[in-house]
Amino acid sequence: MARIQTLPGFHDLYPEDVLVRNYLFGIWRNLARRYGFAEFDAPLIESTDLYRKKSGEEILSQLFHFTDQGGRELALRPEITPSLARMAAARHRDYRKPIKWFEIGPCFRSEKPQRGRRREFIQFNCDIIGDDSPAADAELIALAIDLMRDLGFSAEDFHLRLSSRDAWTDFLTTEKIDPSHTPAFLAAIDKMERDPETSAKKLQQIGTKLETVQAFINAAQPPARLQQVLDDLNQRGLANYVKTDLSIVRGLAYYTGTVFEIFDAKHSMRAIAGGGRYDRLVHLISDGAADLPAVGFAMGNVVILDLIEACTEAQIRLQTHIADHSLADVFVIIADESRRPDALQTIQLLRDAGLAVDFPLTPTKFNKQFHGATAAKATVGVFIGDEFPDIKVKNLITRNERPANPTTLVDTVKEMQQDQGPLIA
Ligand code: HAM
Repeated sequence: MARIQTLPGFHDLYPEDVLVRNYLFGIWRNLARRYGFAEFDAPLIESTDLYRKKSGEEILSQLFHFTDQGGRELALRPEITPSLARMAAARHRDYRKPIKWFEIGPCFRSEKPQRGRRREFIQFNCDIIGDDSPAADAELIALAIDLMRDLGFSAEDFHLRLSSRDAWTDFLTTEKIDPSHTPAFLAAIDKMERDPETSAKKLQQIGTKLETVQAFINAAQPPARLQQVLDDLNQRGLANYVKTDLSIVRGLAYYTGTVFEIFDAKHSMRAIAGGGRYDRLVHLISDGAADLPAVGFAMGNVVILDLIEACTEAQIRLQTHIADHSLADVFVIIADESRRPDALQTIQLLRDAGLAVDFPLTPTKFNKQFHGATAAKATVGVFIGDEFPDIKVKNLITRNERPANPTTLVDTVKEMQQDQGPLIA
């Protein structure tokens, strides 16, 4: 039988990959906290109907779906927004408005695996529910920009393209295009940048032309609401990260007004994050039981890591985080194997004090133990030898050392962790 590999678009995560992933999680959680968002979660598997209701054709064609033993049609979630809309509809009376919630978790889309696109990826979602003001749009956009800044990016590395579907509703009215064509029209605009030829054909079928659409994009002034969003961002000193660009309409069907996407400045990658207002989704998902305006966005973990790799400052921040999250604080070196019982007692003492401790589980040559300390990324070595209860504590980077005994050991180790002493070559 052939060796079983990971499926296309799915990836095994080794410890070094998890360190990188957890760096993103830390930045995401910390930012959400600074903006006053509470964390929520929802099931990985949902009824396919949830996505049929309003995510749009593109997402439906990308569902990983199956029928369960009870004959239910189910899907792995391709996004979390419909689940969130259901949750908000069910319990919104229990929460103060606006509801500000965030979520971090995996999503699944059966897309063609390519650079920036996988079949399993992680999203960070932030949403504000129950507030229809432009201030809520601006708050989320500010959060998205601050997220990029927290990761180490500047206005030279990325920009946020801001748009509104309202402008296109007006365009369709002026061009006398039947509103039933709106989804096909928006899909053609969404694909225009990546595949202008196909979009041109689709626009012609609907009754307009690529040139007319492009002229509209080039001439249009931001609609009044978008201007309010821009003014708000200007007051925060964040307007230089934003470009008004009506060619952004977003691929998902449920968006109603403000929409935005973040791209790398060279525009060499897929969208880093995207979102917008979806004022009708809660109403639709709950069959009218609740009606709440909403705005939100999501960032995936794939494109952002490509961009971190391409940007020195962002790379330094990631590497510093990785270096700061070493596996062990202390490596106990058992210099005299007959002292192993004393070493075990010492290890327990250090762990009880909250220190991360590693040591050789079986008799190991002195030199090999040093390699073990390096592999464990320990900063401090504790040497247990035949002079026990005298113990040697050494900072493995500065190579400075100090004597200790079981009573003074914890304090000495903590002091030696901070040791900055002159580096000995
Ligand atoms: P989306 O544009 O479909 O929006 O996805 C948001 C982000 O998820 C993308 O910008 C990208 O970073 C990441 N992403 C999407 N598909 C993939 C993929 N196949 N591989 C890797 N990364 C991917 C939504 O999902 C909306 N639900 C966002 C939202 C939240 N709108 C309102 N609230």
